Amino acid sequence: MSVFEHQAFDQHEAVHFVHDAASGLRAIIALHSTALGPAAGGCRLWAYENDEAALTDALRLSRGMSYKNAVAGLGLGGGKAVILHRGRPTPAMLEAFGRAVESLGGRYVTAEDVGIGLDDVTVIARTTRYVSGLAQDSGDPSPKTARGVFHGIRAAVRAKLGRDDLAGLTVAVQGLGGVGYHLCTALHEAGARLVVADIDPSRVERAQKAFNAQTATTEEILFQDVDVLAPCALGGILNEHSIPQLRARIVAGAANNQLLRDEDGERLYQRGILYAPDYVINAGGIISIAGGYLRSMDTQQVDARIAGIENTLAEIFEESARSKLPTNVIADALARQRMAEGQR
Ligand code: NAI
Repeated sequence: MSVFEHQAFDQHEAVHFVHDAASGLRAIIALHSTALGPAAGGCRLWAYENDEAALTDALRLSRGMSYKNAVAGLGLGGGKAVILHRGRPTPAMLEAFGRAVESLGGRYVTAEDVGIGLDDVTVIARTTRYVSGLAQDSGDPSPKTARGVFHGIRAAVRAKLGRDDLAGLTVAVQGLGGVGYHLCTALHEAGARLVVADIDPSRVERAQKAFNAQTATTEEILFQDVDVLAPCALGGILNEHSIPQLRARIVAGAANNQLLRDEDGERLYQRGILYAPDYVINAGGIISIAGGYLRSMDTQQVDARIAGIENTLAEIFEESARSKLPTNVIADALARQRMAEGQR
């Protein structure tokens, strides 16, 4: 397995392979960039098929965090950890992971992610100071992420449809979890009509009742004839197979890594579908976590920064229209420019 030659290596500053024989912990901590501050990004626990798949995930997610934190202007770099494990982690494993984080002396700050909940983060915090998103600091980031996505949808609607309000527009929401449900609440209050889907029927039923939402199957939700598609479940859903079938004029949602490949941004652009780059529109949670961890922002400043996602996206959309380049290309260039400035 090559690390330096890996297609997702992209100039990572460091990649740490962690093994603790006593607890059985196997983890990878990838630090993409500390140019703008400590590398911040959650810890994911997953039953990877092999080490290569775990490394690929860590590298991709870590670079994504650099870009997200740079565009959000948080004074944080980007990193990510993955724990290679099937099932629930043991406390000994989490404590060993905490010791590994501590040994990096603050260059990496961890948090929850898929497979690692707030309870697990509290255990990790027994052995390291470098933990963000604890209940006493910022708590569940989902409502903040949803708020940011709502602002992002407003920016996209203004740019694409020339409208300042969402009343009467139709939005398809894929995934009604922590973020998706809060997003539906805000959209419903703003007068939007909703089409929803989730693999969990009880979540669909709840949204149907609360928002008078229409429902779609999980296979069909992406292809609804709506103004906005808001993916709030899985990554990789925008690809060469799905994009030709999309009927929404805007794609703006919370899910991480929505584009299967970078060139899928170009595919959306060619079809005239306005895409809000995922790591820009879904930064509300990390903004809130950063405010709590760095103690750099009070609640009002956090909220103002989240509302600022609307302006950041408006600028990206304008630049895309001016330069005739896809929005994901514009966002990546902005992130790289900010990191280069930080390096200097
Ligand atoms: P969650 O796990 O609470 O909710 C995800 C929902 O999607 C669940 O209700 C699940 O049943 C549903 N789902 C799974 N597969 C589906 C499918 N094929 N079709 C329809 N529904 C499906 O996750 P959460 O926190 O709401 O996050 C949603 C997305 O946003 C994820 O991709 C996450 O990585 C991303 N995100 C979340 C942030 C946060 O603050 N929670 C921050 C930034 C990104």
